[in-house]
Amino acid sequence: MERKPMKVTIVGAGSTRTPALIGSIIKLKERFPVKKLVFYDIDMDRVEKMRVYMELMMKTHSPETELIFTGNKDEAYKDIDFVFCQMRVGGSEYRSYDEKIPLKYGIIGQETCGPGGFAYGMRSIGDMIEMVNDVRKFSKETWVLDYTNPAAIVGLALQTVFPDDKRLMSICDQPYSMLKTFSQILNVPQKDLKPRYFGLNHFGWFTNLYYEGKDLLPELKDYIKNNDFKPYNAEQRDKSWLDTYLNVNKMMKYFDDYVPNTYLQYYFFGNELAKEENPEFTRVDEAKAGREKKVYDICKKAEEQGNLDNLPFLVGEVHGNMMVEIAESIAYNLENEFVLMMKNDGIIKNLDENMLVEVGSRLGKDGPIPYGYEKIDDFYKALIDNQYIYEKLTVEACLEGNYRKALQALTLNRTVINPEKAALILEDMIKVNKKYWELK
Ligand code: NAD
Ligand code: G6P
Ligand code: MN
Repeated sequence: MERKPMKVTIVGAGSTRTPALIGSIIKLKERFPVKKLVFYDIDMDRVEKMRVYMELMMKTHSPETELIFTGNKDEAYKDIDFVFCQMRVGGSEYRSYDEKIPLKYGIIGQETCGPGGFAYGMRSIGDMIEMVNDVRKFSKETWVLDYTNPAAIVGLALQTVFPDDKRLMSICDQPYSMLKTFSQILNVPQKDLKPRYFGLNHFGWFTNLYYEGKDLLPELKDYIKNNDFKPYNAEQRDKSWLDTYLNVNKMMKYFDDYVPNTYLQYYFFGNELAKEENPEFTRVDEAKAGREKKVYDICKKAEEQGNLDNLPFLVGEVHGNMMVEIAESIAYNLENEFVLMMKNDGIIKNLDENMLVEVGSRLGKDGPIPYGYEKIDDFYKALIDNQYIYEKLTVEACLEGNYRKALQALTLNRTVINPEKAALILEDMIKVNKKYWELK
C-alpha cells in the first residue's frame, strides 16, 4: 500500500545530532516518506552552521521534500504531523555544570542521573511545557515525539501537566542501542528481537528477549558472564562509553536475574565512578571533542565546497533511526516493537499507577500497546519506588519552586544519600541555574 507522506518539524534542529537524523530520514524515506521538513531552533545560528550540508543531503537524496528553516514558532508548528523534539535547555555550557558540580562533593556528575539530571530536569520542564502548548495551539492531532533529557523527569512533568494528551511521548534510545548490541552478539536481526523490559527511564532491566518465540535472554546472560560486554560499534565509541558497557558485566556479577540498562551503573557504583572522573574533562568535553567537532568539520567543508564530494553520509544508527522508525510505526499503524515510556496505569501491577514506566511495547496509530507484569520482585520494586519518588519530588519542586522538595529529592537519589551533601550541591546548582529556575 502507498504510504501517505508526512510533515515533520525538528525542534532543537541546532543539535549536532540533526545531520545524522537527516541521514536516517533519507535512508528510511521509502518507509517514512516526508513531504515537508521544518528545522526550528531558538538559536538559528546553530542550525545555520549545518544548514548547507543538510540542504545538500536532502536536495540530493530527497528532492521531493520541501525544506523550511525558521525561528518562528507559528511557522514551525502549523500543519505538522510529527514533531521530533531534541532540545537542550542551557546547551553544553550547562551540561558541563551538571557534570562538574557534583564531583566537587565526591558525587558522580551525569547528564541524566543524580544531581546533574536533577538540575537539567529543572531547566528543561518549563521550555518543554511551552513547546507542547505551542504545538497544541494549532492541533491536537500532531504527534510530539520527544527525546529531551532527562526523559524520566521531563516525561513525568508533561504527564502531570497534560494528563489527557495521548499524542505526547518521551523516548529513550538506550534500550534500542543495547538491542543493537544484543542482536550482534546473538547473531539475529534486531527487527526480529522482541524485548520484555521493566523499570523507569535509565533505570530498567531486560527480562526476556524473544526471537521466533524463543527466549534468548539466558544465552545473552551466559555470553555476558563469559565475555566483555561491548557496544555494537565499539571501535567508534569514546572510552567513557566502553567503560560504561563493561559495568554491565560488573553489575551482573552481583545480580544476574536480568540484563540491566547501562545507566544503572551510576546508582550502583556512583562513588567509584566519581573517583575515576577527571573534573576538568567530563562527558560533555568528550562529546564536544568527538561528535560535535566531527559534525561541524563535515558541515564546514560542505559549505566551502558547495557540494558533498568526499564527505561522509551521516546516519543516526540509533538516535535518528529510532525516531524515524517510531514515527513510521505510528503513522502506518505497524505495531512494531520498541521499549517505550508511558503512564503505568496497571501495566506493572505492583507499582504506583502514576509512574512513567518503561516497558516493551507494540506501537500503533493510537500509541503504545504494552507488555505488562503481574508482580516484580521486592528488590527491583524497592529500587524503582525510591527512584520514582525522587523523580516525582523533582517535578513538584520545579512546578512549585519548592526548596524542601528539591532537598528531599536529592537526598533520596541513590547517587547522593547524604542530606548535607545534597544541600551543598543544591546551593551551587541554584546559583549557577539562576537564569532558569529558582527555589524558595
Ligand atoms: P545540542 O546541545 O547539540 O542541541 C540542542 C539544541 O536545542 C540547541 O541547538 C539549542 O539551541 C536548542 N534549544 C534549546 N532550547 C530550545 C527550545 N526551547 N526550543 C527549541 N530549541 C531549543 O544537544 P544534543 O546533545 O544533540 O541533545 C539534544 C537533546 O536530546 C538533549 O536533551 C539530549 O539529552 C537529548 N538526547 C536524548 C536521548 C534519549 O535517549 N532520550 C538520546 C540522545 C540525545
Ligand atoms: C544515550 C542515552 C541518552 C543520552 C545519550 C548521551 O543515547 O539514551 O539519553 O542523552 O546517550 O550521549 P552523549 O554522547 O551526548 O553523551
Ligand atoms: Mn536516554
